[in-house]
Amino acid sequence: MSSREGKVRRPRELLIRDIHAYYGLSHVLQGVSLAIREGETVAILGRNGAGKTTTMRAVMGLMPVRSGDVVLDGRVVTGRPPYELCRAGIAFVPSGRRVFGSLSVAQNLELASRSVKRRTASAWDRERVEALFPALAGLRNRPAGFLSGGEQQMLKLARALLTNPDILLLDEPTEGLAPTVVQDMGRWLRGLRDEGLGILLAEQNAVFALHLAQRCYVLEKGLIRAEQPAGELLKSEEGLRYLGVARR
Ligand SMILES: Nc1ncnc2c1ncn2[C@@H]1O[C@H](COP(=O)(O)OP(=O)(O)O)[C@@H](O)[C@H]1O
Ligand SMILES: [Mg+2]
Repeated sequence: MSSREGKVRRPRELLIRDIHAYYGLSHVLQGVSLAIREGETVAILGRNGAGKTTTMRAVMGLMPVRSGDVVLDGRVVTGRPPYELCRAGIAFVPSGRRVFGSLSVAQNLELASRSVKRRTASAWDRERVEALFPALAGLRNRPAGFLSGGEQQMLKLARALLTNPDILLLDEPTEGLAPTVVQDMGRWLRGLRDEGLGILLAEQNAVFALHLAQRCYVLEKGLIRAEQPAGELLKSEEGLRYLGVARR
């Protein structure tokens, strides 16, 4: 017996096993398999159109899975609706500016904490989220549509945390951010990783992702082409060239 919950808890584990998915006749996921455990940071890298977003949408029940399975802690959850995944501790932060633009920051956060609230030992509440993102406290009354790109990313992360996830799926968190804000994002995500969250990170910014992740998968045309430790890919000229990263 140990832990704040009074019992020993296994790390959560999300497995994707050989999933296939289509947009119409277009076979976009052609057998994607990957794994992420609580406390790990794992990157999905790949060029534009490789299938990173589709993989995350398929996990979250936002995209039909034709075959293959999504397995959470040994239980098949393929095709379960998004709120069920969320209630089971998986949060998805989509790319782009997906905030309620005419609502204030406080209202955006309020909606998130009312939506799907899991009971956990270390619950996230407004105070804890504002301790992680002090800038949000000063923006409470600002309409979310008037936030900068970095502030909106902060708000999207805060909303996801308020559902008390164990595993976060982050789609292109650095997209469109100024370089200094990309550094902030790195610090925020390291903070979440140190809190013990699992982070599955889809990124076109390979260098950013590889400095944060322990492991990475390279996705190409709907197939996993490689899985390796992030440090190894960072040292591989060929791998980086493939990902379109120029050596300085
Ligand atoms: N709504 C859609 N309808 C039809 N095809 C789509 C749609 N969204 C994405 N695709 C196609 O699916 C493939 C994978 O896209 P996506 O998962 O968005 O890639 P990534 O996130 O890696 O850039 C691409 O070929 C893309 O053109
Ligand atoms: Mg994408």
